[in-house]
Amino acid sequence: MNYVYFDHAATTGVDPRVFARMEPYFSEFYGNASEIHGPGRKAREAVEWGRAAVAQALGANEKEIVFTSGGTEADNMALIGYAQRFSGGHIITSAVEHPAVMESARFLQRQGWDVTFVPVDQYGAVDVDAYRAAFRDDTRLASVMLANNVVGTLQPVAELARIAHDQGVAFHTDAVQVAGSLPIDVDELGVDMLSISGHKIYAPKGIGALYVRKGTRIGPILHGGGHERRLRSGTENVPGIVGIGAALELAVAEMSATRPRLEQLRDKVVAATLATIDEVQLLGDAVNRLPGNACFSIRYIEGESMLLQLDGKGIAVSSGSACASGSLEPSHVILAMGFGAEEAHGSLRLTLGRENTEAEIDYFLEVFPPIVEHLRKMSPLYVKG
Ligand SMILES: Cc1ncc(COP(=O)(O)O)c(C=O)c1O
Repeated sequence: MNYVYFDHAATTGVDPRVFARMEPYFSEFYGNASEIHGPGRKAREAVEWGRAAVAQALGANEKEIVFTSGGTEADNMALIGYAQRFSGGHIITSAVEHPAVMESARFLQRQGWDVTFVPVDQYGAVDVDAYRAAFRDDTRLASVMLANNVVGTLQPVAELARIAHDQGVAFHTDAVQVAGSLPIDVDELGVDMLSISGHKIYAPKGIGALYVRKGTRIGPILHGGGHERRLRSGTENVPGIVGIGAALELAVAEMSATRPRLEQLRDKVVAATLATIDEVQLLGDAVNRLPGNACFSIRYIEGESMLLQLDGKGIAVSSGSACASGSLEPSHVILAMGFGAEEAHGSLRLTLGRENTEAEIDYFLEVFPPIVEHLRKMSPLYVKG
């Protein structure tokens, strides 16, 4: 694919080194991991290797990892699986969660649960006082993402988990955008459950995992043969499990080199964009953000128009409204940060990955300002001051 790809928060390609590890499990070692014959044992060995690799990368115990079909299922399992223990109650989450958490919470709301969506500040960080004040006697679970997928802001999850535990409440975090980019240690974070997804970290689509701390009781949301610790039924995706394990291993091994490089590229694109285009704003926290995320609001023009013009130049980016695929609704994240619909519509997100180069950033910086100028000329809203 001859594209400059700046949409790694949406998905990544499978790293060839990861693919090489997975390949034998498609057609050579294709046994069902539940069978006790040789091919089954070979598959089981691979599943347990993947589990150990994921556990190691998260600072968890192998017994605490449940494989799922991705981040969405892990989030559903955390909220809905945990809620099953109770006949009802109250859940706390944030106003900027990914739909996988947001809609799981709304599903529970329709089942009679109360849900508080805690507000965020203008940078997308959860209002810790409002969060603390939201706890009630019947609060059962709090779930706040480790980093936001649209604006990249990191949340103070260790503090939020501590506050929840002080109230005797379990805590889940969606770490889908953080795994592989920044170090994760479930004990340092103090979380009870944590979701990750393969396709954001150079493993394939269709595999993810939920970390469930020992002693945290949850129920299944998929019913059947009980393959994964009786919590998740469905024949194990052996190549996917090997893939997510290998991808995490690689990401952790290379993080000390990848992270500063991405931060430097991100800072370059942010500084140059703010310097060369007027009426543009960086969305999210300037410092406390994901290494590869640069998200802007560019006034008077639509994110989708910019996206399509950049696409014409062979550059793949996302508008802030992405992730609800194909949706032209303004991003609920940007609205929750206090911006108006017009600013939300003018959002553009670049998410960099480890294969991106400085030359690609330079190419973007060369073609983007004329695109903005061209679109603004056509915008009835824009009057150059
Ligand atoms: C923060 C976050 N959570 C959950 C998901 C869903 O993960 P998956 O695509 O593996 O279902 C995504 C994907 O965009 C995400 O960014």
